[in-house]
Amino acid sequence: MAQAPLPQAVAALLTPAAVFLVLSIKPGKEAEKAVRATLANMSALGRTVRFRNLHAEFTCVTGISAPAWKRLFPDLPHPKHLHKLQPIDGPDLAAPCPCVSTPGDLLFHIRADQPYMCMEMAMLIMDELRPHVTTDDETHGFKYFDDRDLLGFVDGTENPEGPAAVETVMVTADEDPNYVNSSYVIVQKYLHNLEKWNSFSVEKQEGIIGRHKLSNVELPDDKKPPYAHNVLNVIEKDGVQINILRDNMPFGFVGDNKLGTYYIAYAKNPATTEEMLHNMFVGRPKGTYDHILDVSTPITGTLFFIPTQDFLDNVQS
Ligand code: HEM
Repeated sequence: MAQAPLPQAVAALLTPAAVFLVLSIKPGKEAEKAVRATLANMSALGRTVRFRNLHAEFTCVTGISAPAWKRLFPDLPHPKHLHKLQPIDGPDLAAPCPCVSTPGDLLFHIRADQPYMCMEMAMLIMDELRPHVTTDDETHGFKYFDDRDLLGFVDGTENPEGPAAVETVMVTADEDPNYVNSSYVIVQKYLHNLEKWNSFSVEKQEGIIGRHKLSNVELPDDKKPPYAHNVLNVIEKDGVQINILRDNMPFGFVGDNKLGTYYIAYAKNPATTEEMLHNMFVGRPKGTYDHILDVSTPITGTLFFIPTQDFLDNVQS
């Protein structure tokens, strides 16, 4: 029996540091060829950095968007669920911001215990790609107290763990026989209005998130408002909860007062995350939009396919 393709380190644990790099490929065949060469070299670049501190939980996951896939691999089957993220308007009256869809061909999600490991990998990637790409976004995330986001709530608690995490993110043969053990990811960079958020009472904030702020204990279901974050983001099919795997990180520039959450969610089918986004921005039912959006505005939004490590290693330039 043929061995299952080796996945990328999608289900790796949340680390104290991360770099999120979103790049667009310049027009032309030369740029496409150079990008394919770098994709094939990602394992080697990763080994170079990882071996210099084997205890740093270093990983790098590479994603490819729908427009980039068509340019880089025109002769290969298109991954079944790979498309451009659709923007979503809020409800007529309520939602203060739309869900955006922004450019980006390549995503590099670099994680490590030490920021210098992430930085080194980002520099090596850019050493190879700089002449051939433009940078859409570069975000350096950090671990805040108790894995809290800058809104002050512990972020990541309900993530699936271990085998459940792997099951959540890996494409199965039933789903797409061409790309078993691949995955999908949606990223969104949110800016917070912390002055507004901190003017809310803790009780109001807890209703918006659906958990107690200090203890991180979930509110009882009958105490959660219909717009609570953990009401709108629970998706069930035939009585079974369908999960995603989130690796959100806080980031910020205090001088410019640009502080936020880099949202990143892996799933074997991005439709789950897209349904959550619809619930958050439109409401379920319509109007019960997520009140996190009263203080948080997405400024990016992109969907990427995550091929297996074996796929990347065998890319021909
Ligand atoms: C400003 C951006 C966001 C912030 C600050 C944020 C924060 C949080 C926090 C504090 C929790 C509770 C603890 C936990 O289980 O992690 C949570 C849960 C969750 N969030 Fe978010 N989130 C954001 C955006 C999103 C988006 C865009 C989605 C989906 C499209 C999402 C999906 C989820 C899910 C699925 C849960 C777990 C719900 C449960 O099973 O209880 N989040 N988030």
